[in-house]
Amino acid sequence: MNDTFLRACRNEVTEYTPVWFMRQAGRSLPGYRALRKKYDVLTLTQTPELAAQVSLEPIERLGVDAAILFADIMLLPIAMGMDVKIVDSVGPVIDDPINVPTDIDALRPFEPQSVDFLQQTIRLLRQDLKVPLIGFSGAPFTLASYMIEGKPTRQWLKTKRFMYEQPEAWHRLMKLLAEASVLYLHQQVVAGAQALQLFDSWVGCLAASDYREFVLPHMTYIFDELRKENVPLIHFGTDTSGLLQEFASVNADVIGIDWRADMARARAIVPADKAVQGNLDPMLLLGNEALLYRRVDALLQSMPEKKGYIFNFGHGVQPETDDTRLKALVEYVHDN
Ligand code: CP3
Repeated sequence: MNDTFLRACRNEVTEYTPVWFMRQAGRSLPGYRALRKKYDVLTLTQTPELAAQVSLEPIERLGVDAAILFADIMLLPIAMGMDVKIVDSVGPVIDDPINVPTDIDALRPFEPQSVDFLQQTIRLLRQDLKVPLIGFSGAPFTLASYMIEGKPTRQWLKTKRFMYEQPEAWHRLMKLLAEASVLYLHQQVVAGAQALQLFDSWVGCLAASDYREFVLPHMTYIFDELRKENVPLIHFGTDTSGLLQEFASVNADVIGIDWRADMARARAIVPADKAVQGNLDPMLLLGNEALLYRRVDALLQSMPEKKGYIFNFGHGVQPETDDTRLKALVEYVHDN
């Protein structure tokens, strides 16, 4: 069992820098592409044998130090009764999103049995894996933003309007999602997940003051509850430089740093007892090799101690990425 990733999560010194890539399962890999010709994304996530196969592909092909469950953040809103479609080259779409506070009352309480397939996938994976398995959930803000907007957005207009106009209903929705995500993640640990990551992908659209008022209390609740699970906890968001102090204040073991941030500066803001993960711009993999490795060297040099540091991108790997370049990058980080 390679536990380098888990030791880095616990802020320990490691003999080499562990690597995994957000969105390493699916997206760019050939085995996944072939499966996608036959099945849609949600079907793949709901079919344990296929989902396990997708999670294993980057372990075998790239040699990364951790696996991630093949699922999607929208499985939780689906389990709560929302009708979500994943539309090609768009993303999650909900025809009947949350518009008014009473729409929140129509949500079903989350029943862990409704995602039994995830537990089965996790059990299958644990039989084969020699690296730790990461379970995950979307964080309440990111989930709420999809549930209110009904589709991916650049402005979060409906979300912010709802939050500013109906603060009481907003907190009710966030609390519901926070409690559901704790149960959802608990089920994953029971089945065998060895670390947990909360994806708050869109929270960087908020001012620090709004993050403190409308999001942080719910994230504090989630991380305090998840402490009981006794596995490392990772808090990831993008565009978080403006609110990093607040973002890093929760009871997580690891703070994910997005690619816009300077890692050394971010490291200085994140409390010293927490590990950091990140933060290469995944687009660099599409460009010039010399520039890519100049940026990789700079990043590795900013974390010279090999203590509490997990190499990753600052957001998910792009579908266009050449997997032989990813493999070479993993080897390079391990050797330097
Ligand atoms: O990390 C992994 O490799 C595991 C699988 C995973 C998926 N979604 C499968 C998926 C993970 C960790 C997620 C999380 C997720 N889903 C996030 C948070 C991470 C992030 O990138 O910020 C978000 C915002 C979503 C919502 C979502 N699902 C979007 C925006 C899309 C479309 C764009 C895309 O390619 O990600 C999806 C569909 C989806 N979920 C795909 C995959 C592999 C693409 C499906 C395809 O092949 O067309």
